[in-house]
Amino acid sequence: MLPTSNRIGRMNHELDLCEEAMTHQLASLSRDARVGLLYPGEMGTAVANLLRHDYHVVTTLAGRGANTARNCRQAGLEEVDKVREVVRSAATLLVLVPPAAALQVAEQVRHELTARTRGDRLVYVDLNSVSPATVQNVAALFTGMPVDFVDGAISGPASRLATGCTLYLSGMRAEEVAELFEGKMAVRVLGDAPGQASALRMLLSGLTKGVIALFVEMALAARQAGILDRTLAAYRASYPGIMEVVDRTLPTYPAHAARRAQEMVEVENTLVHLGLCPTVIQSIRQLSETVAGCSLPGGPGKPWTVPEVIEELHTQGVLKRSGEVSSPGNVPPLPSPKGSPDGRETKVG
Ligand SMILES: NC(=O)c1ccc[n+]([C@@H]2O[C@H](COP(=O)([O-])OP(=O)(O)OC[C@H]3O[C@@H](n4cnc5c(N)ncnc54)[C@H](OP(=O)(O)O)[C@@H]3O)[C@@H](O)[C@H]2O)c1
Repeated sequence: MLPTSNRIGRMNHELDLCEEAMTHQLASLSRDARVGLLYPGEMGTAVANLLRHDYHVVTTLAGRGANTARNCRQAGLEEVDKVREVVRSAATLLVLVPPAAALQVAEQVRHELTARTRGDRLVYVDLNSVSPATVQNVAALFTGMPVDFVDGAISGPASRLATGCTLYLSGMRAEEVAELFEGKMAVRVLGDAPGQASALRMLLSGLTKGVIALFVEMALAARQAGILDRTLAAYRASYPGIMEVVDRTLPTYPAHAARRAQEMVEVENTLVHLGLCPTVIQSIRQLSETVAGCSLPGGPGKPWTVPEVIEELHTQGVLKRSGEVSSPGNVPPLPSPKGSPDGRETKVG
């Protein structure tokens, strides 16, 4: 018989082997897991590219346009004919669509749940830039269904998903979703409740798009005054941090203005639901909608520079006043200082 210390050593070794085997089995289970993706637009494709080496990513092009089809084929994703087939076999479903389509896609998925052949519950991850109220509406669609809803939001550009973005998650199964992305990008689980991730995303988004809107307004004024180059040089010298955001974000507006305008509606709704009366965000939303309404030439693939975007918005008359010029700011008179009914300063001492 082996001495006690040797027996304990052997038991520990066997336990280690057992743990290793279980870890391996779990890893391979998750590697076998099918990840559904609706749809490979710009961000959806970036997410698919991140996951497809480790997971089986499946999508459909039913109802989608030429850009999505091209993305899907370039990324080499498995393509099935219908949403129904994606829902049928996916363990996790990632949804990345323009904010205004988030509810519509969820309704479609709900409708297809009867097709599921898997015994497990579907993990539905809404990764859209939408307000917590929209998230609650999406989550409510799945009440009583074999679905676990996870709220997700990606902050940062699709072009730098692995190195410059953070994925925020909240919901009961958020940790499991975080594991899918482990080692691939920055992920933060914010809590158990849907809405926590999207609330943070809305507050980040409002700030970035707000900086861009203010910049656009000032740059259009500079262009109108004939001093755009000088103004840009002064901004770069004095506010390099702000210009880093402008350089990164404004040139992608021609491709994304419509989606960003929808996002601003969601940001405004977030503030309204918090019991605030948004003033600045309301104007940012309006300017975003105006920019989205311009048809910026050259298609989504054209690379733009900041001065080119401003020149195009200037040419299209964005923010141009028609009619009489009247000075803005109907500032009400300041209240009279105490003891001076006519508003004149009272001499003290
Ligand atoms: N792109 C980014 O850098 C970025 C960064 C952070 C967060 N996000 C968020 O990620 C989400 C997707 O953005 P994206 O940039 O990937 O947008 P995108 O490039 O415009 O792609 C959107 C995808 O959704 C599809 N789609 C459009 N309308 C739809 C509808 N009514 N029903 C179903 N599908 C529809 C599009 O298909 P078709 O156009 O082919 O029909 C396309 O495949 C948004 O919520 C966005 O806020 C994006």
